[in-house]
Amino acid sequence: MEKVHVCDHPLVQHKISLLRDKNTGSKEFRELVSEISMFICYEATRDLPLKEVQIETPLALANSKIISGRKVAFVPIMRAGLGMVDGALALVPAAKVGHVGIYRDKANSNSAAEYYCKLPFDIANREVIILDLMLATGVSAVKTVEICKNAGAKNVKFMCVLTCPEGIKALQTAHPDVEIITGAIDEGLNEDLYIVPGIGDGGDRLFGTK
Ligand code: URA
Repeated sequence: MEKVHVCDHPLVQHKISLLRDKNTGSKEFRELVSEISMFICYEATRDLPLKEVQIETPLALANSKIISGRKVAFVPIMRAGLGMVDGALALVPAAKVGHVGIYRDKANSNSAAEYYCKLPFDIANREVIILDLMLATGVSAVKTVEICKNAGAKNVKFMCVLTCPEGIKALQTAHPDVEIITGAIDEGLNEDLYIVPGIGDGGDRLFGTK
């Protein structure tokens, strides 16, 4: 599997185990998603370009590095991707945030329609990182990448807490240029299109709507 990075850091794996637990309540679930998102965002931003600068420390001049060139835009897919925004922004506070709402057609699991879209006007000049809690069928992810590319985005990554082989295959088939950064790759989808063993309904668990 090309272009898939699993954050195998022990803290990420530990926190994902806590997420999986059906007894973890919404408050803790939200906090964990935020914390895990920081680690995944750390990996997703690993190749941001740097430039040399000189900084005057209290003692001497230092040749040091700062991030140069492309800036970042985070694009959470509503609604579960919203839970990842705080963690991502904690690492890149100057990033802009776009929002995409995708409606999955219940009668046709392969079809998705956009019901909301607000993206930064300068998305073409930004490193775009799409956020979703899970990459399951890949239908929403494929559509969101398409929306971002149609708006001019050239550098797109996809970060999620959890995925499965079906979601990876769908996204990589449609958009082979998009790197996937995830916390874990689970076994696969069940007949209701939930990731197994997974974490259940991510949106409901985040927002306490069940
Ligand atoms: N969406 C969810 O909320 N859970 C899954 O397992 C897959 C998609």
